[in-house]
Amino acid sequence: MKVLVSAASRYGSTAEIAAAIGEELRGWGLDVAVLAPEYVGNVREYDAVVLGSAVYMGRWLDPAMELVSRSSEALSSRPVWLFSSGPVGDPSRKLVQKMEVDPVDLPALRERTAARDHRIFPGKLDRKNLGLVQRIATALFRMHGDFRDWSEIRRWASALAADLQPAAAATRTA
Ligand SMILES: Cc1cc2nc3c(=O)[nH]c(=O)nc-3n(C[C@H](O)[C@H](O)[C@H](O)COP(=O)(O)O)c2cc1C
Repeated sequence: MKVLVSAASRYGSTAEIAAAIGEELRGWGLDVAVLAPEYVGNVREYDAVVLGSAVYMGRWLDPAMELVSRSSEALSSRPVWLFSSGPVGDPSRKLVQKMEVDPVDLPALRERTAARDHRIFPGKLDRKNLGLVQRIATALFRMHGDFRDWSEIRRWASALAADLQPAAAATRTA
């Protein structure tokens, strides 16, 4: 079974989530390609797809949206899982909880892909990628740092591997 894992990322942290998902799926014996959306050719080459994006101003990044637009027929006829990466800061803070909303594109994404699930993962905010005003504002709200939860990401990936290939559960290689 060939699985495509693809995620749009501006500064690399969502690409690292895609790589971790790919690694987990490989551990289940699946044949996995991890590719940025811009480099995905024909989705019909794959039996299943995991597609994600970093969220900026409530939206998925264009390369992920464009992949969905050009491949919606193929996506909606195979198993698809979606993930978004965004919320940064201490999850017990109200402001951070407010960030944990579905991206505005989600209804359209669900319609075009018939996705089985969508998950929001906390992200990473590196002050060096911000302008002065953003740097000050995000520092005030203590949003700098890496909030990615690798065990949550791996748990989600292993649940979808088990869903794709129940037999793999018995023969997991890593
Ligand atoms: C200008 C800006 C806007 C952002 N907007 C959102 C947002 O609307 N929702 C959200 O959950 N995260 C938002 N974030 C946080 C990013 O999604 C987070 O840093 C993510 O991990 C970045 O992923 P990347 O390194 O793959 O680009 C924003 C970050 C920046 C710098």
